[in-house]
Amino acid sequence: MMLDVERIDGFYGETQVLFGVSLAVAAGEVVALLGANGAGKTTTLRAILGLTPARRGRITFLDSDVTRRATHLIARMGIGWVPDDRRLCPTLTVARNLALGIKRTRFRAWTMKEVCEIFSPLAYLMDREAENLSGGEMQMVAIGRALLGSPGLVLMDEPSQGLAPRIVQDVLAVVRRLRDEGVAVLMVEQNVDTALAVADRAVVLDLGRVVHSGPAGPLRDDRALRQRLLGTAA
Ligand SMILES: Nc1ncnc2c1ncn2[C@@H]1O[C@H](COP(=O)(O)OP(=O)(O)OP(=O)(O)O)[C@@H](O)[C@H]1O
Ligand SMILES: [Mg+2]
Repeated sequence: MMLDVERIDGFYGETQVLFGVSLAVAAGEVVALLGANGAGKTTTLRAILGLTPARRGRITFLDSDVTRRATHLIARMGIGWVPDDRRLCPTLTVARNLALGIKRTRFRAWTMKEVCEIFSPLAYLMDREAENLSGGEMQMVAIGRALLGSPGLVLMDEPSQGLAPRIVQDVLAVVRRLRDEGVAVLMVEQNVDTALAVADRAVVLDLGRVVHSGPAGPLRDDRALRQRLLGTAA
């Protein structure tokens, strides 16, 4: 396993929001992390990144215990993050925002040229300030920035949110390409169909607890299971 999260408890102040959450992601695997609003999906990603460190339990990345390691050190090991709110520097250009993501890790380095091939609109947006981008364009920059950081694992928080269907397909194509190149992807999604279209396995959270963990296929096909866990049978 590239990432192994073992029975973590997560807190904001004195309020516990994660209860013994466990999940794992292998190299070249896409895992969907699903669940209702407030289930603890973002907090789980924040724990992996060391932004909201787990108070109990253990997080292992590449056989190193990173549970209480500083965020910048975790990032340098090769964990990329695509935050739900994109977090671009609004007054910097697209080119500068992308350049901020560049770093070398033990994993493959993606080039600016490759990122522009994946998201072709970026090529002509390079000199635009990030604050003057559309939501979808911002998401392209956020994903491109993560790739330029040479990740072995990418944490994506609702990557399809607010995107036109065609751009969602572009994002899914990137996820498949990452998997084909041996990168691990942990993808939080509200859009269950989008996530299950690409995921190998799925983990469902409810009120901070894992209530389901297994192959994505049954969740895609078993309407009753899906209705029970996610409240959607579509
Ligand atoms: N900064 C914070 N301070 C206190 N409580 C927080 C904070 N951020 C989140 N929470 C609480 O932690 C719980 C889990 O939130 P989290 O953001 O992880 O959920 P989520 O599954 O990502 O939900 P969503 O789908 O709405 O993004 C919620 O009850 C939320 O209110
Ligand atoms: Mg969230």
